[in-house]
Amino acid sequence: MRKVNVGIIGFGTIGAGVVKALKERRKFLREKSGIDIEIVRICDKDLKTKRPVNVAKPLLTKFVGKVLYDPKIDIVVELMGGVHPAKDIALETLRSGKHFVTANKALLSDSGAEIFSLAHELGLCVGFEASVGGGIPIIRALKEGFVANHIDLIYGIINGTSNFILTKMSEDGLSFEDALQIAQSNGYAERNSSLDISGGDSAHKLSLLALLGFGIEARPKDIYTEGITEIEACDIEYAKEMGYAIKLLAIAKRSNNDLELRVHPTLLPQKHLLSSVNDVYNAIFVKGDLVGDNLFYGKGAGAAPTSSAVISDIVAVAKTISKGCCKVDRCISFTKDADRLKSIAEVRTRYYVRFSAIDKPGVLAKISGILAKYGISIAHVTQKQRKSQKVVPIIMMTHEASERDMAKALKEIDSLGAMKKKSVRIRVEG
Ligand SMILES: NC(=O)c1ccc[n+]([C@@H]2O[C@H](COP(=O)([O-])OP(=O)(O)OC[C@H]3O[C@@H](n4cnc5c(N)ncnc54)[C@H](OP(=O)(O)O)[C@@H]3O)[C@@H](O)[C@H]2O)c1
Repeated sequence: MRKVNVGIIGFGTIGAGVVKALKERRKFLREKSGIDIEIVRICDKDLKTKRPVNVAKPLLTKFVGKVLYDPKIDIVVELMGGVHPAKDIALETLRSGKHFVTANKALLSDSGAEIFSLAHELGLCVGFEASVGGGIPIIRALKEGFVANHIDLIYGIINGTSNFILTKMSEDGLSFEDALQIAQSNGYAERNSSLDISGGDSAHKLSLLALLGFGIEARPKDIYTEGITEIEACDIEYAKEMGYAIKLLAIAKRSNNDLELRVHPTLLPQKHLLSSVNDVYNAIFVKGDLVGDNLFYGKGAGAAPTSSAVISDIVAVAKTISKGCCKVDRCISFTKDADRLKSIAEVRTRYYVRFSAIDKPGVLAKISGILAKYGISIAHVTQKQRKSQKVVPIIMMTHEASERDMAKALKEIDSLGAMKKKSVRIRVEG
């Protein structure tokens, strides 16, 4: 039986969830894993707010130092969120000789490489299973389960808020604004949900998946990111008519040792496994060269699923400590399995494009002419009913084209007098 003493920093949604689960399951975990986990200190700025779990007063403190410098504590669990002061806390935890567990994707996408290197240098462990996909064990799968594979592709629906909004728009024909309001009133979106709907949160998580899957260090600013705010209900409807669903996808794709990293709304064939991932659920599709296609599906957020992942890290760290092999078991491999990050301009995909044009002869010919000039060929075109004041939506699916060419073509098309609104283009995968 190995006993580990844990100090928790951040007693909010996830912190309280972890404390509750650890209190309720201490005996169960002892029997199941051979690890006896004791919480010896909980730190939070705010000790007044009532939490969903009762803890003895002497466990609580406002002072981070009481966790970092307590010689009894083996593992510091950071559940406060944000980059600062979480980064200093992570580094100081390690310098104090303690192992570090976190659910903080913002911190790791900003400073992961520095934290992992220091941990390795000092022979300490960093657990971060809860930082991507909540309760889904994707980090351990990439680090251990797929270790024999060169990863070719990762597709992730890794932001529950955006997935909930797109599901509501698709199922109930709602506008983006109305769907967002429902997400907020159901507690699936925070009042300030900009990081979720802008794709920023997915980019944080994709940077971690890229590090694990390809050994490539990419900060969120290196990842092309588009959110879902420009998606209109009519695009979802037109996509559906053509047999596609629209999902906010985080994509890591390797071709000829170049890696594409991008987050954007994406048309996926309805028969693709990810198209049926709805509501707040997350899913991650991984293709490895030995293992082939795999799909991980589950709850990507919430106190209970996230605490499942945090506790799995505490147990894993405790087991590694008891074997005395932290130095060998690197938190992360920096073996590069791709040479270069492609720029978005180099990416080639198919496109769904919606033009809003005046209903008069010759417009379609002009659009087709400009696309042809940039080598973009059309796979399919439909002219919809007039929407308003003689403006007619023209929906096109293209064959594969480069982003650079598509951007130039759309700029030229949008400057035509017959175009009433900026055209909408959504990339297609699968
Ligand atoms: N919520 C989820 O479903 C979910 C899922 C996966 C991962 N995560 C990650 O888990 C982490 C925690 O998220 P959460 O939803 O639990 O956030 P939360 O409810 O806001 O809890 C964070 C807690 O930490 C406290 N805190 C902030 N700065 C502190 C400091 N310097 N010293 C001590 N306490 C401090 C906060 O106090 P104040 O409220 O007074 O600021 C709050 O009580 C984040 O990294 C998040 O990305 C969350």
